[in-house]
Amino acid sequence: MGLNKDRAVIIGQGYVGLPVAMLAVLGGYDVVGFEVDDHKVAELNSGRSHVEDITDEQLAEALATGRYRATNEPADLAGFDVAVISVPTPMGEGVPDLSFIEAAAASVAPHLSVGATVILESTTYPGTTEELVAPILEAGSGLSAGADFHLGYSPERIDPGNTTWGLANTPKVVSGVDARSLAAVQGFFDRIIERTVPVSGTREAELTKLLENTFRHVNIALVNELAMFSKDLGIDVWEAIDAASTKPFGYMRFTPGPGVGGHCLPIDPSYLSWQVERTLGHSFRFVELANDVNQHMPDYVVRRVQAMLNDHSKAVRGSTVLVYGIAYKANTSDARETPSRPIIEQLIELGATVQLVDSHVPVGQFPPAATPAQGTPADLAGADVVLYLVDHDDVDRDAITSAGVPVLDCRRALKGPEVEYL
Ligand SMILES: NC(=O)c1ccc[n+]([C@@H]2O[C@H](COP(=O)([O-])OP(=O)(O)OC[C@H]3O[C@@H](n4cnc5c(N)ncnc54)[C@H](O)[C@@H]3O)[C@@H](O)[C@H]2O)c1
Repeated sequence: MGLNKDRAVIIGQGYVGLPVAMLAVLGGYDVVGFEVDDHKVAELNSGRSHVEDITDEQLAEALATGRYRATNEPADLAGFDVAVISVPTPMGEGVPDLSFIEAAAASVAPHLSVGATVILESTTYPGTTEELVAPILEAGSGLSAGADFHLGYSPERIDPGNTTWGLANTPKVVSGVDARSLAAVQGFFDRIIERTVPVSGTREAELTKLLENTFRHVNIALVNELAMFSKDLGIDVWEAIDAASTKPFGYMRFTPGPGVGGHCLPIDPSYLSWQVERTLGHSFRFVELANDVNQHMPDYVVRRVQAMLNDHSKAVRGSTVLVYGIAYKANTSDARETPSRPIIEQLIELGATVQLVDSHVPVGQFPPAATPAQGTPADLAGADVVLYLVDHDDVDRDAITSAGVPVLDCRRALKGPEVEYL
């Protein structure tokens, strides 16, 4: 028996879709990566990965099998057995923007055949698969979800930059609109992922993802608020967190930071609170509180920089702040919704010169008013204060701590007499 040549199309070749496509190739599928961004299509087909979790070598291996190619041509979706939708789900003006999912479903629909499977993977509020995606697929295909084709939802848990827990070894929650759909969705992921976790309905699977991210968002807000109080109370919150983390049960470690960023935490909980408000007419208070605390962290960081300069009899205006990190977290090039951006913008508005070091994020994505820097000894010597926002592995930490410049470390990654923690 040769490889099973089932045909999978993965709609959206971003942080989520490309890794799924690569695993599907390893699982023996014939894979089409459907992507509307022409530049990404060209890059992928010439072996250049724009997603850090996928190396150029992995992409080259997939291309060499002859069972992977990227395309922006809708006709290439024809004849699929499984379609996975992994397109963005941003917020627009405080309201979930599902236009990408709608467009993706509309492009899949004409190519749906009896017995094929469609899986939504984008993060979204409960009900999206059955209330939004199913009708679009049915209208465009003339087929019926469940009776003619399989439809399900499987949330993505990928954590860019995490080298321990990747797509293949992180359990994957799967669901379907009926038992046969669930079996089809589970069958697809069982071929590429170590362990699948079935739940009884698509809404439960959709809620699972929002629960996970809301849990994280709320707990980060909790330690962020504690960090601000502790500073005023003269207590080392980081030491308390380390000590609490020794408890082997009933506690989970979260650490303070300059705010939350990326495509998940600043957005996903608001999908849930929007839906609760819309359907039940009351607010989801935990999410609102967490949003409030986390969204104000950049202001707090700016105030701390101001206070540090003040301690050295300096004003923000005219000072040079050497900032480390515009990515939303360590070891990723993803700068979407990064809290570094409002921090840098506020510092510049107050009159500071901001120099910015980030080897992961292309300079084109830096705030225009920030000057790109490398963190050289000259950069450090010219700084009035160092603001350490993101702890990428490749930063020369010793160079920072030995420069004799005051440092505000928002990650507790540095040690030295000049270093102050958030
Ligand atoms: N990035 C993460 O860490 C992460 C983790 C878990 C879940 N998610 C969720 O997964 C979904 C995708 O996120 P992402 O980070 O991969 O986004 P991304 O922007 O990196 O990738 C999405 C890709 O889809 C493409 N696209 C948009 N509309 C399309 C269409 N109609 N047809 C084909 N391609 C289209 C975009 O050009 C883009 O390349 C979102 O719902 C997100 O919340 C992301």
